[in-house]
Amino acid sequence: MDQRDILRVVTNEFSGLHTKEEKYNPFPWYKNMREKHPVYYDSKQGVWNVFLYEDAKRVISDKDAFSSKKSKELPLQNITNIDPPDHTRLRSLVSKAFTPKIVANWEPRIQDFTKGLLDQISKKNTIDIVEDLAYPLPVMVIAELLGIPTSDRNQFKEWSNSLVAGPSSTEDIQETINQKNKATSELKEYFSHIIQEKRKKSLEDIISVLIQAEENEGKLSAEELLSFCIVLLVAGNETTTNLISNAVYSFVENKTVWETLKQDPTLIPNAVEETLRYRSPVQVLPRRVKMDTEISGYKLTSGQLVFAWIGSANRDENKFSNPEYFDLKRNPNDHLTFGKGIHFCLGAPLARLEAKIALSELIKRYSTISIKEGYQIDPIESSFMNGLKSLPVIVE
Ligand code: HEM
Repeated sequence: MDQRDILRVVTNEFSGLHTKEEKYNPFPWYKNMREKHPVYYDSKQGVWNVFLYEDAKRVISDKDAFSSKKSKELPLQNITNIDPPDHTRLRSLVSKAFTPKIVANWEPRIQDFTKGLLDQISKKNTIDIVEDLAYPLPVMVIAELLGIPTSDRNQFKEWSNSLVAGPSSTEDIQETINQKNKATSELKEYFSHIIQEKRKKSLEDIISVLIQAEENEGKLSAEELLSFCIVLLVAGNETTTNLISNAVYSFVENKTVWETLKQDPTLIPNAVEETLRYRSPVQVLPRRVKMDTEISGYKLTSGQLVFAWIGSANRDENKFSNPEYFDLKRNPNDHLTFGKGIHFCLGAPLARLEAKIALSELIKRYSTISIKEGYQIDPIESSFMNGLKSLPVIVE
């Protein structure tokens, strides 16, 4: 199974998600799969798909039976696609840059960026949540954390887009691979240069913290540092953009939510959590079977690819009561959106903080929000992410 195969599989030819509406709202299809084919072998692609909460959770967290080394040829080996013991060592080193104290220190900067973006559009009463806020904010934050000039932001976003893009059809696969390889080599060159500069002059950004880990303990190789920078750029950008715009979409779709949050802003963290469950920015996580195993009586053999549909798991009726309902008071809310187990999202506290700040600022500024008349769902072109390319809303 190589990169091409994985991309072919994520085009989900078996899914029946064809229209834009179906792509942004795959939930009825998931429900159908949970009821009729909770463990589905796609014989055309030779790939397993699991749709239930317990199965998806096991696939992404049982590191003995399922490997994160998804494909043989990878443009970049990084923390997301390695297994223990390599993963254990790398994870413990890079975690140093994401302690709760470090993340809390970023709060004032994130607030400044958010206010700055909303000030620019303060005179308009139709704004585009994606273009005006959800798209620029995460890249500004990542650039700041990595200590990278904000002037490089647009280039940054382009690289990130190429790396997360999925093919919209099988014909696009080669083109997608070419784009990813090009972006990866450009990013490598870019970060090598930045790292060299930071070796000369250490500051307080993440790259400087990691350079110290590399120099003091000698355990983080230069190659690992480089690939980690690239992962941060990719993992933290589009996902957080989608979280913010999916949250606003969920608010306009579920009319009372905005009003409730206005009256009680302490519920905003719950709204973030419920958006993560209800409309996960990442819908599916791949793993490779490491040793022969069984899921709900089906036999999976070593080497096969499995897709864990976390977007479906998050709406599994056996785990969540009334899962199709956006519940601001849902508790517990043990969604799988940031993964589970050893690969659990390192940036989860940061993503939650960014979304909380962005939504709080919107709710503070505007008394009402509604979708612009005539808006047609405009999903991003990715079969493993859920998000919008544009979300024009009327604010008052
Ligand atoms: C891993 C989702 C934001 C950095 C993951 C994983 C998921 C995920 C599902 C696990 C992948 C797996 O098990 O194969 C998300 C979502 C986000 C988000 C939904 C936003 C809403 C961020 C941010 C950063 C980040 C802001 C950093 C700035 C990482 C890293 C890993 C990771 C480094 C790899 C951890 C490991 O393999 O040990 N993320 N992420 N993520 N995420 Fe996030």
